[in-house]
Amino acid sequence: MLAIIVVISTTQKNTTMNCSVELRSDTFTQPTEAMLKAMFNAKVGDDVFGEDPTVNELEAFSADMFGMEAAIFCPSGTMTNQIAINLHTRPGEEAICEQGSHVYFYEAGGIARLSGCQARTVAGTRGQIYPEQILPLINPEDVHRPRTRLVCLENTCNRGGGATYSMENMRNIRTLCDKQNLKLHLDGARIFNAIVANKENPRDYGKIFHSVSVCLSKGLGAPVGSLLLGDKAFIHEARRARKSFGGGMRQAGFLAAAGLYALQNHVDRLEEDHQKAHRLAEALGSASWVKSVMPVETNIVIFEVAGDKSSSYWVEQLETNGIKTVATSPTHIRMVTHLGVSEEGLETTIDILSRISKGSLTP
Ligand SMILES: Cc1ncc(COP(=O)(O)O)c(C=O)c1O
Repeated sequence: MLAIIVVISTTQKNTTMNCSVELRSDTFTQPTEAMLKAMFNAKVGDDVFGEDPTVNELEAFSADMFGMEAAIFCPSGTMTNQIAINLHTRPGEEAICEQGSHVYFYEAGGIARLSGCQARTVAGTRGQIYPEQILPLINPEDVHRPRTRLVCLENTCNRGGGATYSMENMRNIRTLCDKQNLKLHLDGARIFNAIVANKENPRDYGKIFHSVSVCLSKGLGAPVGSLLLGDKAFIHEARRARKSFGGGMRQAGFLAAAGLYALQNHVDRLEEDHQKAHRLAEALGSASWVKSVMPVETNIVIFEVAGDKSSSYWVEQLETNGIKTVATSPTHIRMVTHLGVSEEGLETTIDILSRISKGSLTP
């Protein structure tokens, strides 16, 4: 493990030296010195045997935060989502989700591949769906029709530009699920961005959802890891599913220590990332080569480029000038702020955006 930590530290130095501004995703965060120290000092055991004290502490701490009975630490958010879908459904059944949601769009067909379940998708508003859209998609009891079993929501909505659900909408969806005997899962990869932006209490989420997935390796800044939260019986089953999906880790406490550190120290600071995203959006709003910017609520900024050049052209222009972004469609580009984006990096980005507008940069 020491070797791994040394490699991480070295990578960190190299990244700082190459002076680019990393805005592709908040998954690019590097562990801080304090986080590395917590990892280095972690007490560990074999987590598959349930004997890693740091993993156990992280699971108990996170379950308590959300007021849920139990939690399980997994290698990725894809795994926590797919374990939840696997446990809530049976082969041949149907899960309702938004058409751009991560569980459907970005998890390599995991719903079908791993659970034999099919997705019923619906177009949301910046990633959000509403009870009146869900109701008509619930299949009647009829031998011809797949049984509808699950609704998956995502908060914040990644492809929706970091948009957040209102508590009222999530509560109304839960009421509908209860009436229709459906389970409700939350992909909360960036749930703390929503919690901080809307000044919410994580325990309210624990009351609304049957299961919640939380990523530690996005804006919270841990190198690896996600948590799945639910009641004791659900998490008991999740341990078997995690094992069969190949996600049982041994001395995982080194990683859990980073996650614990992140939950204890990196939640409130997400507000800084949100402010930086707002400043980026403002600068983009006055750039001549930008057609429109999606409203910013958290740490994601998605904008549409103007004119006949594609988003990849502009991504390349930005990259040539040290600004790393990602095209999310032929016309859209995404920027994500996180703890690795310094004030200086933000100023540099804003300067480059305006110099591209003025044509004062050599392509
Ligand atoms: C909304 C959302 N859900 C789930 C995930 C999956 O996380 P992981 O990359 O840890 O599998 C991501 C990753 O970017 C995400 O953006």
